[in-house]
Amino acid sequence: MAALMRALRKEHEDMTVLLDLMDRQIAQFQEGAPPDFNLVRGIIGYFLTYPDLYHHPKEDLIAERLRDRAADQAAGLESLLNGHLDLAYLTRRLATATIDLMVRPEDEPREWFSSLGRDFVDSNRRHMAMEEQHFFPLAQQVLSDDDWAELDGRFAAGRAEVHVRALHGAVLEQVAGE
Ligand SMILES: [Fe+2]
Ligand SMILES: [Fe+2]
Repeated sequence: MAALMRALRKEHEDMTVLLDLMDRQIAQFQEGAPPDFNLVRGIIGYFLTYPDLYHHPKEDLIAERLRDRAADQAAGLESLLNGHLDLAYLTRRLATATIDLMVRPEDEPREWFSSLGRDFVDSNRRHMAMEEQHFFPLAQQVLSDDDWAELDGRFAAGRAEVHVRALHGAVLEQVAGE
């Protein structure tokens, strides 16, 4: 498997565990316990940076290559990949809600915060499932070894990416410990 595809799958695994952690925080919050703000901030901090900077651009580039190689089959992926903008919006909306909750806990916007959190978790899960069921298999089927070699070369993790991952080391260690 191309290094790029291995990286994408690993990132999905990381995000899946982070989303499970967030899911539990939301459930706990709905039952009346305060959220673990350190953990919630760590998860949101990861989603505010890493996917937009390093995960989605890899997928967008693969999609662009797929459009060159198999325009008809790739046409069905348009809405899937437009989803990256929607996910970025949902992350920012939840980040704002988390700050509100931290500074004004007395307002107890329990239902509101929980519904934003659920929307964030469910949308990310749906998006990744679609990619794993449709997008990744199509890319693996259509793109040649030469395509992958070239794409791998363009996306070898640079210092900036390694640095951003390190910034989120604490929350990603929780992923490793799960
Ligand atoms: Fe994606
Ligand atoms: Fe993805």
